[in-house]
Amino acid sequence: MTVIEQLIRIVRERQRRGAKFAELSPHNLAVLGMRHASAAAKPTPAPAQRPVSQPRPSPVRGASVAPALDISVAPPAPPPPPAPAVYPPPPDVRTADWETLRQACLSCQCCGLCATRHSVVIEDGCRNAPLMFIGEGPGADEDAQGVPFVGRAGQLLTRMIGAMGRDRASDDPAKAVYIANIVKCRPPGNRNPLPDEAKACTGYLYRQISLVKPKAIVLLGNVALKFLTGRSGIMGARGKWVEVCGIPAMPTFHPSYVIRFEQYPRQFHDTKLLVWQDLQQVMKKLGEGK
Ligand code: URA
Repeated sequence: MTVIEQLIRIVRERQRRGAKFAELSPHNLAVLGMRHASAAAKPTPAPAQRPVSQPRPSPVRGASVAPALDISVAPPAPPPPPAPAVYPPPPDVRTADWETLRQACLSCQCCGLCATRHSVVIEDGCRNAPLMFIGEGPGADEDAQGVPFVGRAGQLLTRMIGAMGRDRASDDPAKAVYIANIVKCRPPGNRNPLPDEAKACTGYLYRQISLVKPKAIVLLGNVALKFLTGRSGIMGARGKWVEVCGIPAMPTFHPSYVIRFEQYPRQFHDTKLLVWQDLQQVMKKLGEGK
């Protein structure tokens, strides 16, 4: 039987079994004369899957041997990668009042963090405070309680606020502060918020800033610095005024960075001192302190 007859027989047999298509390898195309013969000289590597088996003629030295038929079908295409999740665009809250803003935050589904949150952590403090603190995002304690900065880093922040002569529980603008974060839902494992997550969330924060209208803002750490000013590197940026929405903003170390040195009294003291110097500049800007 010639190679072509063999091939036709195989294809008929497959058709009889219900196959609608027969994929031909480059090798078989060459056997059928549908491709340059040089391709036939190089048999296609045998694929793993061989739905129909067919003995190959054994090559005999010196004999003229019909080219081997490779009846392999093309391996199935790998499944396409899962499509990235598509989230709705964040709502326009630029003119929202407090209650509309709060409801928009509570029902937000605009990034992947909504899938794992327990709480939407919006704010703490007084909405008329002249001083606003902005952190990066809720951790486990904040996610559980729905209030920003209540874990270990939050306890240090509360003490720092006290040292400034302010009180995060006060409603008196002379003493009060307002606290919020770049993202309102906890990034899993306390990782930094991703740019898309920050982008989906900062509209809410900008509306908070424009409603509170603080006289000064403290940016706590790299994440707040980066997503509100586009700058990176809190080491170089801390202690130097920048502007956020036209409001003077002081970048300083995040309290979680400071508490990393707790076991090392000297570095702990030195790092707290740097933060304290930054906060003293803020007090001066508010017309307080020395
Ligand atoms: N760290 C933050 O940046 N924000 C919080 O609310 C808690 C910890």
